Amino acid sequence: MVDEKKIRNSFSSLKKDIEKLNSVLSGVANKIEELQKALPEKILDATEEKIFTSKVFVNNKMKKTVVGVLESGWFSNGEKCKEFEKKFSEYCGAKHAIAVSNGTVAIEIVLRTLGIKNGDEIIVPSHTTMPSVEPILHVGATPVFVDINLETYNIDENKIEKAITKKTKAVLPVHLYGNPAEIEKIKNICEKNKLLLIEDCAQANGSRFNGKPVGTFGIAGCFSFYPTKNLTVCGEGGMIITDDDKLARKARVLINHGEDGRYNHIMLGHNYRLGEIHCAIGIEQLKLLDWFIERRRQIAKLYDECLENSDLILPKETGAGKHSYHLYVVRTSASKRNKIIEKLKNENIYLGIHYPIPVHKQKIIGELMNVPVLKNTEKACKEIISLPVYPTLKDEEVIMIAQKIKEVMG
Ligand SMILES: Cc1ncc(COP(=O)(O)O)c(C=O)c1O
Repeated sequence: MVDEKKIRNSFSSLKKDIEKLNSVLSGVANKIEELQKALPEKILDATEEKIFTSKVFVNNKMKKTVVGVLESGWFSNGEKCKEFEKKFSEYCGAKHAIAVSNGTVAIEIVLRTLGIKNGDEIIVPSHTTMPSVEPILHVGATPVFVDINLETYNIDENKIEKAITKKTKAVLPVHLYGNPAEIEKIKNICEKNKLLLIEDCAQANGSRFNGKPVGTFGIAGCFSFYPTKNLTVCGEGGMIITDDDKLARKARVLINHGEDGRYNHIMLGHNYRLGEIHCAIGIEQLKLLDWFIERRRQIAKLYDECLENSDLILPKETGAGKHSYHLYVVRTSASKRNKIIEKLKNENIYLGIHYPIPVHKQKIIGELMNVPVLKNTEKACKEIISLPVYPTLKDEEVIMIAQKIKEVMG
């Protein structure tokens, strides 16, 4: 017999349960909606960890390769160095790659190899870091500073010819921030005036111009693997690339105590070699370089989108150049710049200025030579700000940084 009353009671209790469940579900839905609304705020506040302009990427393969070198007992002039040089030369499409202790000596060795000396003049931008110019002074030559193009922050190729004198031996453009200089035009100027072209690619590992890696347009390209760079050896390191056999051979001798064959010293050299541990890390980093650059370019695009309606002047990629965004540099008035830097610093975000004092305004340069007035260079130095950009920077962090900057901009 069906107990009708019992069934009715069961139904009514089931109904009550369903009502209760519905009310719980609608509470959950409200909570989710509340959380979703609060999410942008949450992201905006998510700055417990300090954010700097750069951060080194280290993975397990890099750790393992270091242990491998430690266990091998072979730390200098070994197989890792040969492999790193080979892979780097292949990556750039250059005939030779010579690993050296850092990017500064890469430039110095190239200048020495080419016989640049006292009385020679080298055309160079001043809107760069001291190590672009230091090697010129070390070999006894004179830097001749040329102003920059304010859109690209690179040497203004239209101002190079005016700076050429009988003493000019070379032009040394810097691919600043990873943005290639107008290197084809500069190459033409060098060819027309019989000048050497040496590229400072310290900030431009993996940057290209017309699809061709920077560093391959002139007689030599000089790279840095300092920890902030697109490719780092987690310490100091550098590379010279060239297609010139004579230059490569002499550079190898110069970085190795002037030794040409065991214990046979044919010229006064240096110890500018790069150790095996650094080369081993370099090999692993090189495998990831294209991915690093792709991620840097995604971040730059996101900053572009987030900041497009602000008053900031955003970085520009010149037609034929592929920017690798070693740095993402924006520009605003000097007073706003200070406010932005202060406000973000209070929120654990450390922005940079690359560079606050141009090379021609450095004390040491003023003591050595008459310095020119470089209007664009001097303006840029007062207005630029470098925003954080590195492969592991998250999209939400980029959005947050842009938002905070926009708040200051008003
Ligand atoms: C443009 C430029 N040139 C040269 C160098 C020198 O490189 P390194 O620090 O490896 O000596 C650097 C790096 O600081 C640089 O940014």
